[in-house]
Amino acid sequence: MTIEDYIVDHIDGEGELLSKLNRDAHVNLLRPRMISGHLQGRILKMLVRLHRPQRILEIGTYTGYATLCLAEALPEGAEIHTIEKDEEMEDFIWKQFNPSGLKDKIHLHIGDALEIIPRLEGNFDMVFIDADKRLYNEYYDLVFDKVNPGGIILADNTLWSGKVLEAPHSGDKQTIGILNFNEKIKQDTRIEKVILPLRDGLTIIYKLRTKN
Ligand SMILES: C[S@@+](CC[C@H](N)C(=O)[O-])C[C@H]1O[C@@H](n2cnc3c(N)ncnc32)[C@H](O)[C@@H]1O
Repeated sequence: MTIEDYIVDHIDGEGELLSKLNRDAHVNLLRPRMISGHLQGRILKMLVRLHRPQRILEIGTYTGYATLCLAEALPEGAEIHTIEKDEEMEDFIWKQFNPSGLKDKIHLHIGDALEIIPRLEGNFDMVFIDADKRLYNEYYDLVFDKVNPGGIILADNTLWSGKVLEAPHSGDKQTIGILNFNEKIKQDTRIEKVILPLRDGLTIIYKLRTKN
């Protein structure tokens, strides 16, 4: 038994819908490891419980696994917008959202987040960045002014399987994207930030209420 097995055995279950989603993804999809999974999914849900956002934006839906985890804990009247570039995922995603009892809270946008984010009206209390690693800085810059002061930005895969420590940094564009993002976040004085060594690294960013 690994420590993650032990943790998963001692926390809330993911529920039948998400566990079936996971199984279906492993049978039918090419990159099922991109799914947040049981432990990270429960952490995302817990963060929504604690922060009580009215509006969430997720960048990178894939199967909808994390969308459902985030939506599960949304307070009454709250909503989540999620953006997925790969239109071939749309059927699979709706197959998950339709029976979930949560679809009225979820707004799925199919298309490139770089084009869709500027067209989204209103602000967000929580953003989950989990799409193309080469573009994290662009997503962050596009979304920052749409995050309410006191809001939270989560960024997944910010340790990138430990590749952030490899030297020289191979020229791999995804690793460079993550390194540039981590450096930008480190320098940004408008926020507080912490990286959780969870799975592949999860950065939690708090947007300060006043400039200091
Ligand atoms: C790591 S997966 C998302 C996993 C999901 N958030 C979860 O935790 O279960 C990344 C997804 O982002 C999508 N993606 C990549 N670039 C994108 C972009 N510019 N706009 C929207 N989606 C994008 C990919 O097609 C892929 O489905």
